[in-house]
Amino acid sequence: MLKTRKRVVGAGVIVLLLIGVAVLASRQSASREDVWALLAEIKAQDVGQLAISEEDGRFLRLLIATSGSRRALEIGGASGYSAIWMGMALRETGGSLVTIEYDAGRANELAENIRRAGLHDIVQVVSGDAFQQIPQLPGTFDFVFLDAWKKDYRNFFEAVYPRMDVKGLFIAHNVVNKRDEMEDFLEVIQNHPALWTTIVSPSGEGMSVSWKRE
Ligand SMILES: C[S@@+](CC[C@H](N)C(=O)[O-])C[C@H]1O[C@@H](n2cnc3c(N)ncnc32)[C@H](O)[C@@H]1O
Repeated sequence: MLKTRKRVVGAGVIVLLLIGVAVLASRQSASREDVWALLAEIKAQDVGQLAISEEDGRFLRLLIATSGSRRALEIGGASGYSAIWMGMALRETGGSLVTIEYDAGRANELAENIRRAGLHDIVQVVSGDAFQQIPQLPGTFDFVFLDAWKKDYRNFFEAVYPRMDVKGLFIAHNVVNKRDEMEDFLEVIQNHPALWTTIVSPSGEGMSVSWKRE
């Protein structure tokens, strides 16, 4: 009787250990080398040249890390190149990112790439139209990266601005090389009384950086 009980307890302990090992393995993040290789692979397969440049990725990563942002939103995630750069920084700040992608096929790739980068505990992928998805997201954002269709930029800004924390950052991509497609947006962010805006161009495409001061 006692022997049988000991055996059952022993088997139970082994099962629990195996479950623990499986959980740890599923949480284990990808190595640095794996992530660099994945970023290079996404770039190599990006025939439509949707992804931001490596320099812009490095800039986003630094912005999040130095500002300590913790509640980030990306509009236009494509295959996850920019989300991976931001996810790396959010791992440092203890934050998280919601990235929204309209194209269902790309949203699947995005989710898979986030998983491969070991960032699935930090980055949530939402498939769908950001105009419909943003009102359904909870809470506020202290970092927003906009990289969707350029003619929609002003409308995206209007949709997100009320959901941004004071002291939050709003970043928009392609404000130099595609400025003709977003003049109304640039006019708003550069003359907004509650924003400090500057334009930087780490790789020629340009990013606006707007700080919500009040
Ligand atoms: C330039 S790509 C984004 C590249 C991505 N940020 C990166 O660097 O890897 C623009 C993406 O925005 C998506 N998009 C356009 N309009 C959208 C919308 N209303 N809601 C969500 N995604 C949208 C497109 O499907 C496209 O994949």
